[in-house]
Amino acid sequence: MYSLNIPGLSYEEFLLNYWQQRPLLIRQGFEHFNDTISADELAGLAAEEEIESRLVYRKAGQWHAEHGPFECYDHLGTKGWSLIVQSVDHWDPRAAELIRPFDFIPNWRLDDLMVSFAAPGGGVGPHIDNYDVFIIQGSGKRHWRVGDRGQYKEFAAHDALLHTEDFEAIIDAELEAGDILYIPPGFPHEGISTEQSMSFSVGFRTTRSADLFAGLADFLAEHDYGKDLIEDPARSHCRNPGEINNTDYLLIKNKIDALIANDSLMHQFVGEYISRAKHTLDLLEENEEPFSENEVLENLLQGKLLHKLGGLRCFYLQQEIEDGIIYIDGEQIVLAASLSAVLISLCDKQTLSREQLSSGFENELFASFITGQINQGRWYFDED
Ligand code: SIN
Ligand code: CO
Repeated sequence: MYSLNIPGLSYEEFLLNYWQQRPLLIRQGFEHFNDTISADELAGLAAEEEIESRLVYRKAGQWHAEHGPFECYDHLGTKGWSLIVQSVDHWDPRAAELIRPFDFIPNWRLDDLMVSFAAPGGGVGPHIDNYDVFIIQGSGKRHWRVGDRGQYKEFAAHDALLHTEDFEAIIDAELEAGDILYIPPGFPHEGISTEQSMSFSVGFRTTRSADLFAGLADFLAEHDYGKDLIEDPARSHCRNPGEINNTDYLLIKNKIDALIANDSLMHQFVGEYISRAKHTLDLLEENEEPFSENEVLENLLQGKLLHKLGGLRCFYLQQEIEDGIIYIDGEQIVLAASLSAVLISLCDKQTLSREQLSSGFENELFASFITGQINQGRWYFDED
């Protein structure tokens, strides 16, 4: 278990004064930090088809970026390249533990754990991200520069590489193992490895309102909701047939407002939209031997812990949990009001023991639900 220490700041002070507002260099945020996965293990993940990876390097002064999977790195030499792998938390439970110290920010804001290996001189170039990130330095050293928010020209240094013009640094530091750099959206930054190094980035999501609306449209279509028509009986005689008068404009706009004002519909949309995983999950193959409800209970009675699959997004809304409603990977699951306590534990915790689940097992609905989830691989027991 990692413990995050922000010297001189409580989490409340960090959230109040830095989160989303200013970058912060946290020296020794993780004391005695060792890489949670090795460079070789990272290369193993980058060889997998379903895991998103990128290679970024510079050749003859030109930037290049390639998408994985990758088998071999021999052609890149010993300098000036880096390998970046997304959603490592979905595939490696030890690496996923690095996310837990950031639970003082709710999990729905989380995106993934990205891990990068860089040869000396390697980096992805100066750029601006639209998400918050905590970059945890692993083995080796990396030199980071972060500029202030502002208007910067951005340009494609390569088809898959958006860079920004040069910036003046407000943070200019070499990071060593256990140092953490927090960067909010909009701050230009660049990291260059001074020696062979690993870094672990806990990234958070932001969503554009345009994306929310697109998601809402998909949600309505998927559930066959919102099919009621705009109606205009008892219309008054129109004198200007080319005009959309204000009454008609409001007729149309109110249709949208009424939909958005429908909280039960919007709760379901938010729960389903926000809980959907962006990256592939390491679910079980269908041909794995399924557990029976009794076997699940026996495992718990033997003291085995139940773990949530890395990257699984599982949430409840404050307004709905008393009704026993939760959302798992884009799906609304309606259980029972009497199960709200155990469902809160299921969503809040990464690991559950028999004691934490026992109230649920008194209810057949829960026993069957959790067994089904385990059989899909969304939760799993410790290995023997
Ligand atoms: C990296 O880890 O190499 C890139 C991280 C970033 O700046 O977004
Ligand atoms: Co970045």
